[in-house]
Amino acid sequence: MAIQAPEGTRDLLPDEALFWEHFKDTAAEVFRRYGYVLIDTPLIEQTELFVRGIGVATDVVSKEMFAALSGENLKRLLTGEKVKSKSRLSLRPEGTAGVVRAVVEHNLVPQGAAPAKLMYAGPMFRAERPQKGRQRQFSQIGVECLGAEAPSIDAEAIIMLMRFYEEVGIPAASMELLVNSMGCEKCRPAYRDLVRSYLEEHADALCETCMTRAEINPLRAFDCKKEGCAAVMEGAPKITDHLCDDCRQHYADVLTLLDGAGVAYTEDPTLVRGLDYYTRTVFEVQASDGLGSQNAIGGGGRYDKLAEEVGGRPTPGLGFALGYERCMLVLEAAGVELPRAQRCDLFVACVDDSVRAQAFGLVQACRDAGVVCEMDHQGRSLKSQFKLADKLGAARVAVLGPDELAEGACTLRDMGTHEEARVKLEDVPEEMHRVFL
Ligand code: HAM
Repeated sequence: MAIQAPEGTRDLLPDEALFWEHFKDTAAEVFRRYGYVLIDTPLIEQTELFVRGIGVATDVVSKEMFAALSGENLKRLLTGEKVKSKSRLSLRPEGTAGVVRAVVEHNLVPQGAAPAKLMYAGPMFRAERPQKGRQRQFSQIGVECLGAEAPSIDAEAIIMLMRFYEEVGIPAASMELLVNSMGCEKCRPAYRDLVRSYLEEHADALCETCMTRAEINPLRAFDCKKEGCAAVMEGAPKITDHLCDDCRQHYADVLTLLDGAGVAYTEDPTLVRGLDYYTRTVFEVQASDGLGSQNAIGGGGRYDKLAEEVGGRPTPGLGFALGYERCMLVLEAAGVELPRAQRCDLFVACVDDSVRAQAFGLVQACRDAGVVCEMDHQGRSLKSQFKLADKLGAARVAVLGPDELAEGACTLRDMGTHEEARVKLEDVPEEMHRVFL
């Protein structure tokens, strides 16, 4: 049997690869307006980074990480030898931990400096059970802002995310922005204890996973999709009733700024997100059509303690990531037309083989002038060359035959209007340039 792509991965075929480029360009264009610049970190990091950064009790770290082993270390592992902690590597399940590691390692936010505003795009890996909108390799576009804790940073990033969705064509009516505050290290421990006691009181009605969670991370019970658990969690204490004064003020300021910008949102006190690094603001954008249960097309929040977790100085941070594949599914469901594959400005057609060398030269001259240009390489008849030009969506066809060549010219045909004109060969690149570039 022919070898197929691994489960939970997809090939981006040319049409879609082109859209991925367009998607990234649009994000870069929007995020640049807010001062974000590109960063690119490795796809593999020390496993310890994710354990410390994301949290050992999260599903992402405890169940979904792909380990990456060199041949040498695999052999060591198989023979029962120890692999040094530094050599234990994992494929990144998300981008935040790696970016924060890079910021700390390269001291990108020295004391008193302006915040570092960083954006990235690329593949992430999670060994989840594949289903619609859930893959094992997926692409994220994300931003991280380190070095500022003002609520305006949170609001600005949320506004920017919503602007991006709009610009890429996701209709406002097909998504909902949910926001919440997770509190800080001052107010969250007491709240966590409250939820733990609540879970213990309702142990009979909760699933086993939620009860295991009660011990390690009780807040994750808010994410349980089981009906019985969801019903119990509706009555659970809400974090927004237990925030300290500073967190309450920070959250209120974020909401005021969103109101001022006319961004619609729903406050959801049960939104806890699946990564342990969050403090204060968290948010998620959920799509209403096209995705079923995997409906989060983006999410993020503040993580004021993460830099310290990975060994750096206290550095507040905030960011988000959006999932490319899920956005594609929403765009498809909304019937949004995606840009077509490579355009073709000019197709050079040969009447017979005697003009091939000149046609080849004309194609090169046009390409050198920036024109997207193609010709036949399979000895097709003139008729099937026209068919090919049509298939490629060529805007013009230059017909070159012995008669034209005798005049040092070609017949340039406009494929839209069917108008034809004789044009000197040396003038073709300039003529094409005039019309298309
Ligand atoms: P996350 O919510 O785990 O956050 O992922 C962000 C987005 O990635 C999700 O909303 C979803 O669109 C997409 N995504 C996640 N898992 C999958 C999957 N298995 N298949 C397809 N798409 C998926 C983070 O990753 C955080 N690092 C976001 C962040 C940045 N927080 C602060 N800064």
